[in-house]
Amino acid sequence: MSTTEKKDPLLPGTTAPAPAPRNQRLNKGLFLLILIPSLLFSGHLASLRYHSETALASLCPQVDTLVPQRGADVLANISDLLATPDFKTKAVNWLAGAVQIPSSTGCPRWGEDKRWEVFAPFHDYLSDAFPLVHKTLDLTKVNTFGLLYEWKGSDESLKPILLAAHQDVVPVEPETYDEWTHPPFSGYYDGEYIWGRGSSDDKSGLIGTMTAIETMIEQGFAPTRTIVLAYGFDEEASGLQGAGALGAAMRGTYGSDHPFAFIVDEGGGFTDESGTVFAIPSVAEKGYLDVHVEVTSPGGHSSVPPAHTTIGMLSRMVVEYEENPYEVELSRDSIPYALVQCLAAHGATMPRWLKDLVRRSQHSKRALNKLRDVLIEDHQFKSLIGTTQAVDIVHGGVKSNALPEQAYALVNHRIATTSSVHETMAHDTALLAGLAARFNLSYTAFGDALSKDGSGTLTLKDAYGTSLEPAPVSPIAGKGSEAYQLLSGTIKATYAAHRGLDLNSHEGIVVAPGMSTSNTDTRYYWDLSRSIFRYNHNNAIGTRDVPSGVHTVNEAMSADALLEMVRFFTTLILNADESRHI
Ligand SMILES: *[C@@H]1O[C@H](CO)[C@@H](O)[C@H](O)[C@H]1NC(C)=O
Ligand SMILES: *[C@@H]1O[C@H](CO)[C@@H](O)[C@H](O)[C@H]1NC(C)=O
Ligand SMILES: [Zn+2]
Repeated sequence: MSTTEKKDPLLPGTTAPAPAPRNQRLNKGLFLLILIPSLLFSGHLASLRYHSETALASLCPQVDTLVPQRGADVLANISDLLATPDFKTKAVNWLAGAVQIPSSTGCPRWGEDKRWEVFAPFHDYLSDAFPLVHKTLDLTKVNTFGLLYEWKGSDESLKPILLAAHQDVVPVEPETYDEWTHPPFSGYYDGEYIWGRGSSDDKSGLIGTMTAIETMIEQGFAPTRTIVLAYGFDEEASGLQGAGALGAAMRGTYGSDHPFAFIVDEGGGFTDESGTVFAIPSVAEKGYLDVHVEVTSPGGHSSVPPAHTTIGMLSRMVVEYEENPYEVELSRDSIPYALVQCLAAHGATMPRWLKDLVRRSQHSKRALNKLRDVLIEDHQFKSLIGTTQAVDIVHGGVKSNALPEQAYALVNHRIATTSSVHETMAHDTALLAGLAARFNLSYTAFGDALSKDGSGTLTLKDAYGTSLEPAPVSPIAGKGSEAYQLLSGTIKATYAAHRGLDLNSHEGIVVAPGMSTSNTDTRYYWDLSRSIFRYNHNNAIGTRDVPSGVHTVNEAMSADALLEMVRFFTTLILNADESRHI
């Protein structure tokens, strides 16, 4: 995949965070949820199984399973442990104990609000639960509650790896308490699932890494390659205080020229709902921009009105937006295209005509456009590949007999990975230029005074100063993609080992690159590694009986899935430790 479209990291400044848009982060499983069924099960031809062709398989080459050699004993011993009831009980208790500390984010005033102090008992809990980690690793507390652990390797010439997770959880709305099968902070274990807010997002990632490392130390493992753990504490509310400060601290210690071989943070998972199991680590993230559109004009009594009030003019502008949505292109360089290629190459039940269309789209522009038209019928997929716009706030007027002197709207954009903040600003500026002239408004867009004379004003600006470029795309093919290959081989090895599958058979799991429409803490880590993977080795959708419940009621985590995460982190650390390619 091309990496020439990498964007310069543009990190938000250190100004106070905007009131965090609540729904800024969509359910990460959502993309899979929508896309996989519509592409794999698209009904009418589902019975027509496609026999794999080398031509198709080459659309999405797969690496072999990767199992540690030097660390084979450690892994074998930990595998034996994972199968014991005692270890399972221990892991369940570790996660349940973490869930029982209600570390919700969402307190607006950093440093003032006492509710932030809930992270102190959470830290005490971790140090009691994981004594070997706390004896062996160096811990630095960053900005009071950020946790930065370093497990020093013996070979300083190897780039360290970074495993990230967050301590905070989405608040539980009190009026939904009754809807929980088991109370949200109970950590109740029903013999199969651990229930509660954060059991999956993202205390499973935090406890998963801690459990793996505690156990590896117990087994006498000492790393060659340094391992760093970074746990933020406000990921669900922009991440500025936690990951923002952790990123700065790591730049101070390790430098800012991509010092880490790779980063693994929460993100896409795998799904086993179809004929093929796909693991979909996110290797890209869309950008973000909130545009404040404001119209002013002289006030006056509404008994002598002009033809258009500020509200009327603003309304016309909202119409202009909605009548001119951003065009959606399917770029061959984009991650969504690579994902579709993987689904075509390996999806057991994708209809043949669609597979053929994907194959032809590699060379034919016409086929590519046809493919785009088919895919964007799926609204979720359309939102993923294009820049979106949504008018989310409108405000104006005070009294029925007074002309409104001011009216504004807020337009939220999620920026396509093939675009940029600048391009989005330029698009909006051009979009409203005609109306500014027509209504005789002086026009200022993102700091540029474009026309000065007018009987009123039109101003566009970045509403909260929270714009974010699309994330740099982590390489998934060719030079620079070694970490992606290592991750892929690790996912395959973990999946197969956990199910007792033949490590060399093809019945296991297919790894395909994905992207999310939302951001994780890694938005502060772009210059720390070129290979950033947002991935939980976990079923992204949940099971038939128990949905993942992420960001809603009835969040739960299966004990077996937690053990598989521990196996994943153990295998990942061991593979990274012995690789000389990353
Ligand atoms: C694995 O377990 C065996 C049997 O208990 C033990 O002899 C061996 O030292 C262990 N290996 C490692 C690397 O811990
Ligand atoms: C536009 O506004 C300016 C400044 O108030 C005014 O001088 C001019 O006459 C207006 N033009 C129109 C066409 O209303
Ligand atoms: Zn999360």
